[in-house]
Parts: sequence; C-alpha cells; structure tokens
Amino acid sequence: MGENIIELNNVRKEFVTAKHYPGFKGAVKGLFSKETVTKTAVDDISFAIREGEMVGYIGSNGAGKSTTIKMMSGILTPTSGTCSVNGLEPYKERKKNARNIGVVFGQRTQLWWDLPLGETYTVLKEIYEVSRHDFEERMAFLNDVLNLQEFMHSTVRTLSLGQRMRADLAAALLHNPKVLYLDEPTIGLDVVVKDRIRQAIREINQKYNTTVILTTHDLSDIEELCQRIIIIDAGKKIYDSTLNQLRQDYGDSCRIVFEWKQSPNARQADMLQQLSGQFTLHRQENGIQVRFSKKECTVAEVIAKVMGIAEVKDVQIKETELTDIVKKIYQGSEDRAV
Ligand SMILES: Nc1ncnc2c1ncn2[C@@H]1O[C@H](COP(=O)(O)OP(=O)(O)OP(=O)(O)O)[C@@H](O)[C@H]1O
Ligand SMILES: [Mg+2]
Repeated sequence: MGENIIELNNVRKEFVTAKHYPGFKGAVKGLFSKETVTKTAVDDISFAIREGEMVGYIGSNGAGKSTTIKMMSGILTPTSGTCSVNGLEPYKERKKNARNIGVVFGQRTQLWWDLPLGETYTVLKEIYEVSRHDFEERMAFLNDVLNLQEFMHSTVRTLSLGQRMRADLAAALLHNPKVLYLDEPTIGLDVVVKDRIRQAIREINQKYNTTVILTTHDLSDIEELCQRIIIIDAGKKIYDSTLNQLRQDYGDSCRIVFEWKQSPNARQADMLQQLSGQFTLHRQENGIQVRFSKKECTVAEVIAKVMGIAEVKDVQIKETELTDIVKKIYQGSEDRAV
C-alpha cells in the first residue's frame, strides 16, 4: 500500500442558518429575523488514507458524511482545520483538484439532464482534456464493466435509476481520477445492478489503484469492497480500523443453533446444563442455542461437545453480522453522549 493520498487534520465544518420559529406565524417571523443558529456538521475530524485503499465512511443520517466528502471534493471549505488530497487543498485549488478526483452522489446526478449520454461523455472528454486514445480505451473498459451501450443514445432524463447510476459512475471515472468518492452509490438499486456497480468499483481499484471512499447505509457494500471503515457520529470520528480488527473487537461472539433429533432425556439435559458454565445457553422449542466467544472456543469444539451429549438433526451457525456490530458502536457513542 502506498503513501497517504488524503489527509484530514482537525477538520471542522459549521453551517450558520436562519433560526426557525414554530408554526406558520413563526415561519413568517423567521423571514424577517436576523437570528441565526450554528450547526457543527463535522467536528474536529482527522484521518489519513493511503493510495489504493478502499475505505467505508459510515454513520447514521445527518452524521456529517456528505459534508466531509464535499470538503474533500472542494465543494465546501472547512470552517477550520486542513484537508489535503493528492497534495492539494481541494477548496483552494478546485480546478486542479477536479482532475484528481471523481465523485458520485447517489442522491442526485452530475450529468446533464437533456443530453444523450454519449454526448455527455464527449463533453466531459473535452473538459478533462482526455486524449482520444485514452478516451476510447477507457470508454471500452467502462462499457465492459458497466454495460452502458444499451442506453448510450438515450437522454439522461429517460434513464432508469440503475442505468443513471452506472452512467454517473462512468462519468466520474472517464478522466481516470486517483481518488473516487462514492456517496451512496447503490441507493435504491436492484441486486443485479448493485452487484455490477460493486464489481466495477473493485475492477477499477485493481486496474488503476484508485483510492475509493465509500459512503453507504448498505453495510454489505462495505463487506464486499472495503478493508477499512471509519465511523462518524454527530460529526465526530468514533471508530477507524480494519474490518478484521472490528470483528475481533466486537464481533467475536458466535451463536450455534442445534435442532434435536430426539429431545434429550433427563441425564442428557443435566449434562447440557453443565455446559452453561462455559457457554450461554438458551433452550428453544426443539433444540438449544449456544452463544460463545470465539476467543475462547472454536465452532468445531462447541458442535462436538453438544453432539457428544444428544442426538442432533440440524445445526445452524450464526456469526455476528456487521450491522449488529455497527449498531453497537452507534449505541455506545449515544450512551457516551448522554
Ligand atoms: N448546506 C447546509 N446548510 C445547513 N446545514 C447543513 C447543510 N448541509 C448539511 N447540513 C447539516 O449538517 C449535518 C450533516 O449533514 P450531512 O449531509 O453531511 O449528513 P450525512 O452523514 O451525509 O447524512 P445522510 O446519511 O442522511 O446522507 C446535518 O445535520 C445537516 O442538516
Ligand atoms: Mg449524505
């Protein structure tokens, strides 16, 4: 893995907005009032990302993810702190920075509504001064991974959501940026298109060593693509680590559900009861659920122990899901804030 390509140092972003008063009368009053409220959307965030990394940037609604991405893209200027992307401060050198980055905001398109898609790419080619050779080669590659040809001649306004998202991703990649920001790129997509988009991101990262920052509420995107996640909450960074480490820190608990072939007799029930010193047991209608820490025991050992006592018809192994872990982290952060 290469050098740091993105560095954020104590970045803060405040929004100052007009104060709102309740009710209709209040709304009118608000129009004439000069009172303002300050909202801190990003609160003292620092992190560094190395070239070629794929990082999931996650947090609940309103956590400050899009605001961070807008600062890293040069759309917004931090209130304080500094941000550097490929050696530039994006908001100070917006044009130069634009050549280094590609951005997809899943919530709204960056494409021109009325242009046929093919023409959009020709315009972008001129804007980014992509040579004809590079353009042809890249379009062929993008077409290959994103399957664009079926709607290349349609105007953007007629594209379905999944087509538009693929078109947006291709537009963001046409100039082969070093850094790709994806803000909810799979929102509202069906499973097939979602898969295609993920595959494309993976291939681009492998082929060009593109650095990817991905924001999503679909944690399976993260599981499929990222080695590392940064979690923010109420503008503050609350977690930054590899997925493996995250699983070790939070996700080592495992559940195994056994279904009995024959209900245990009194002696077997007694032997099972003795396992409760080592594991957490929950009796179920036709079986038993065993919860344990993978730090202390392996799946194979637990299965062997239970099967040595009673006759088992079926076994299901349930690992802690990433969603559960992330929920726990969000909750921990809420508890601390209270
Ligand atoms: N231009 C703006 N003016 C005022 N407040 C803003 C502005 N942009 C964002 N905010 C506020 O800053 C906070 C962070 O917003 P942001 O869009 O970064 O959240 P997010 O993490 O992307 O959330 P989501 O998951 O819903 O997309 C929110 O409280 C939002 O209302
Ligand atoms: Mg957002």
